[in-house]
Parts: sequence; structure tokens; C-alpha cells
Amino acid sequence: MVVFGATGVTGRRVAAYLAERAAETGARWAAAGRDTAKVQRVLGEAGVSGAEALAADVNDPASLLEMAARTRVVLNLVGPYTLYGWPVIEACVAQGAHYADLTGEIPFVRRVIGAFDARAAQAQVKLVQVCGFECLPPDLAVLLAAETARERWGEGLASVDLEVSMRTPPGLPRFSDTISGGTLQSLVAVMGGEDPSVATDPAALITDPVAAAEVRRVSPISVAPRRGPQNAVIAPMAPAAFINPPVIQRTMALTAAEAGTRPEPFRYREGMLLAGASATLPLRYGAAAALAGMQAGFAALARAQPSLRRRFAEALGTILPGSGFGPAADRLEHWSWRMSVQARTAAGHELTVEVAAEGHPGYLATARMLGEAGLLLAEPGLTPNRSGCLTPAAALGTGSLERFRKAQMRFSVSA
Ligand SMILES: NC(=O)c1ccc[n+]([C@@H]2O[C@H](COP(=O)([O-])OP(=O)(O)OC[C@H]3O[C@@H](n4cnc5c(N)ncnc54)[C@H](OP(=O)(O)O)[C@@H]3O)[C@@H](O)[C@H]2O)c1
Repeated sequence: MVVFGATGVTGRRVAAYLAERAAETGARWAAAGRDTAKVQRVLGEAGVSGAEALAADVNDPASLLEMAARTRVVLNLVGPYTLYGWPVIEACVAQGAHYADLTGEIPFVRRVIGAFDARAAQAQVKLVQVCGFECLPPDLAVLLAAETARERWGEGLASVDLEVSMRTPPGLPRFSDTISGGTLQSLVAVMGGEDPSVATDPAALITDPVAAAEVRRVSPISVAPRRGPQNAVIAPMAPAAFINPPVIQRTMALTAAEAGTRPEPFRYREGMLLAGASATLPLRYGAAAALAGMQAGFAALARAQPSLRRRFAEALGTILPGSGFGPAADRLEHWSWRMSVQARTAAGHELTVEVAAEGHPGYLATARMLGEAGLLLAEPGLTPNRSGCLTPAAALGTGSLERFRKAQMRFSVSA
């Protein structure tokens, strides 16, 4: 495997994970970046030694071809992907290397599907996007629920509610603990891109127009806060409520197409559970409303005049922090989080899938899960025999779930 963008906030953690896992499995990997001296220095500071450093720059197509030719899998950490992702994918498809990234930039994913799905399928290359906290755990959890319902009752899902709860380290989190400059600039790139209204479409990644219309009808995305069980407030997913739904809906469309059936539409709803004593209810509602307000603002701006949008994105891009900003190494541990998926079939059968994981969701757990996904993709025969533009769940399959224990993430099903 190659970790491209190994000097970044997330890339260095992916490299650290692979170094650890390579020692156990014998897998071979290298770290790539535009400045190999910086790659060596940053990895040294992160406690990773002995990695081979490859020179590759998104502005130098020959360097990307050379990198892709030397590996089975490229893990791409060079974002914003809207700006930098295309030539890396181009090189992987040309050289027959599988590809995985962490983008949440849905308009970009849709453009990639349009341009590369058939070519990648022909080359038997797996292009796996949105392969971090968004959207690997929820995507696999919902697929597990769907497969379990099919096995137990011979039925598809009618509705799914996914809630995430988090335990953060003691003390007040700093802004840099929650989000990186790379992620902020990626949100700005979507806003300033050609087709940002796609970013809020739950059917953005479904190519069949009839199936897409059904998804929009049955499962629109709402960012409004809701009341949860036991005084909890359910806030919209952060950093954006618009990333997981289209990926999950694409997984269902891909698996249905493979089975030769039409995807059965189901209502998918998600959120972050803010639990606490009843005295803190107004405070939690306030926090959820603030998150909802920001996301509703994003959705409104996505539909605004292109010139206005671009000016706003440009201004935001200069104000917000950039590359290098993000949680420090000592702020990544001591997080834990759970995802709970309540699934229901049309006949009223219910089941729960739980995901329990350790480490900062965006920048440590994400790095581990991407690293483990890379290891799975690199070993022939461990993942389903599919190629083209795949979601994490379609690429890895529920047969891979046990392996994610290595990445400190556990999946379980209960009736
Ligand atoms: N979905 C999720 O759960 C999730 C979680 C984490 C991150 N992400 C996404 O992952 C991406 C990376 O985030 P981050 O916070 O790690 O970003 P970051 O710290 O800004 O890292 C960006 C990386 O890109 C490299 N780079 C920039 N321009 C390059 C070029 N021309 N050629 C080669 N490399 C170049 C940088 O190298 P230099 O050091 O040489 O500048 C750096 O290694 C973002 O798009 C973010 O949104 C998603």
C-alpha cells in the first residue's frame, strides 16, 4: 500500500497504523508526499520509523503514475479532493491500483462515478470513496442490518435510525480538537464547486433516475433537532448531515443491482445523541439548534447564485484555518463513540446493530479504519468480487467486519 499525503493531520496517523499492522502482518507499505524530506521528518516526529518515502505531487501526473504502478492500493489523504483528487484516481485506474480516500465531498464523488465507474470496472479496480468516519461505520452497519433482516425474515428494510454518541476526553475541547483545516477547506471547496446543490441530495450517488426519485421521496435529509429517548436531544450529524445518506443509499442500490432486483426504498435518518441531565436540556437544544442552523445555512447557500457562492467560499477559505491545523497527537486518544442502528422491516420486525469504537472519530479512528480497509483491499480474495466506483460497504462487505476489531471498532447485532 501507499499512503499518499502522509504528512497531513490524518495521513500521518494512517502511516502510524500501517507501520504497526505491517509489523504483525508482513504487509509492505510506503509513505508518499510532494516533499520526501518532509515525509521522513513528519513520520519521525509521529514515531514512525523505517518507512520508504516516495515523491508524488498531484500537479505532476508522471509522479502519480509511478506511485500507482508500484502498489496494489493507494490510500489518498490529499484533500480537498474536489481540487486534488481527480489525477490520483486517473493514475490508479490507468495502473490497475485500488484506491480509497476520505472525501465527504459528495459532488466530487458523483463526478467520479460518472467518469470512472465503467473504466474502473473494466480494469477491475476498486475505487472506494468516503472511507472514514463518514461513511465506513454507518454504511457497514446498515448493510449488516439489511443482510440480517433478509436472512431472518426474508424482508428488506423499511426504516433505519442511526444515532451516534461520543465520550470526549476530560476538559473543554478546543476548536482544533474537533475539526482539521483539511476538513474545513474541503467544506469550502464543495461550497465553491460547480454543483454544490448535489451536496444536499440523498440520491446524489444513484445513477438510475427512477430509483433516485424514490429515495428523494422516501428519505429526504432533515437537519432539524429532535427529542431522543430519556431526555436526549438528537442533533444533526457533524461536520455535515449530507454525507452518509447518499453513500448508504448507493450501497443499497449497488447490492440490489447485483442481485438483479430494484432497490427497496427505505427511510434513513441519523443524528448525534446529546444526552444529559434534564436541567441541561435547554443548553443541549441550543447546541443542536446551532449545528442545525449552520447546516441549513450551508444548504441554502448551496442553492444560491454561483457568483455569490464563490465569493462567499473564497472569503471563508481565507478566514478558516488551512492544512496543518487539527487535533494534536495527545488529543486523539481518550475518545470513545458508539453508533446504534435501529432497523425495522415493513412487517414490523426490528433489530439493532451497534458499533463501538475507540479514538477520535475523525482523525484517529478514521485513520485506523482507512488503514485496515487498505490492508483488506491489498489482499486478494478478502473482499467481495466487485469493482468500479464502490461505497465502503460494497467494497469491503460484511465479511470484513471482524477485521475492524484490529482498528478498535466492533460491530454487533441484537434482535
Ligand atoms: N470522512 C472523514 O471522516 C474524514 C476524516 C478526516 C479527514 N478527512 C478528509 O481528508 C482530507 C485530508 O484531511 P487532513 O486534515 O489530514 O488534511 P491536511 O492536514 O491538510 O493534509 C493534506 C495533505 O495533502 C498534501 N498535499 C497538499 N497539496 C499536495 C500536492 N500538490 N501534492 C501532494 N500532496 C499534497 C499535504 O502535503 P504537504 O505537507 O506537503 O503540504 C498533506 O499531506 C480532507 O479532505 C478531509 O476533509 C475526512
